[in-house]
Amino acid sequence: MATPIRHPYLPAQPPVLINRDAIARRVAEIGAEIDRDLAGESVLLVGVLKGAAIFLSDLARAINIQCTFDFVAVSSYGKGTRSSGAVKLIKDLDHPIEGRNIILVEDILDTGLTLSFLKRMLMQHRPRSLRVAALLDKPERRIEPLQAEYVGFSIPNHFVIGYGMDYAERFRNLPDICIFPPDAAD
Ligand code: IMP
Repeated sequence: MATPIRHPYLPAQPPVLINRDAIARRVAEIGAEIDRDLAGESVLLVGVLKGAAIFLSDLARAINIQCTFDFVAVSSYGKGTRSSGAVKLIKDLDHPIEGRNIILVEDILDTGLTLSFLKRMLMQHRPRSLRVAALLDKPERRIEPLQAEYVGFSIPNHFVIGYGMDYAERFRNLPDICIFPPDAAD
């Protein structure tokens, strides 16, 4: 059931799709799964800027094995809610990943274009293993047949904001995942 929240910059109160408590519980579960899957090893979390920054920072704290971070950035949505379809690397890795266990950390797996581009790019650097952790999955929108090893929540085709996700760079700081525009939930 959507619970309205107030935010000073929103034109209206956006309906909450997934609240902060449910997010925290699911992130803790994913962290525990990663600990089990990579027991006795180390992991490099590669976050996709900027949407995955908040998910990565919570996920990292839910992981107990040795863990380091790196970040990449790609061009994706501009100011609106539609993808151009083209993916371009804007920021590359800072460190070599050859022989490392990599988890590519993304906010939303939508068409799959971004993650398949990034997976192909990372595989060229010959990591020991490569997995994907996506906080949200919108399977209806998939163009590239890609599945994440770790998925927070599978959601219907709503445009969402909050917990790192934006509309025109805004609303990333909302603690809950909300539907945008607010009347899309009606
Ligand atoms: P894909 O390449 O279509 O899978 O797009 C993935 C990227 O699109 C995500 O990392 C987000 O940056 C962006 N995106 C897709 N759906 C949404 C949404 O509902 N809200 C905000 N950003 C989104």
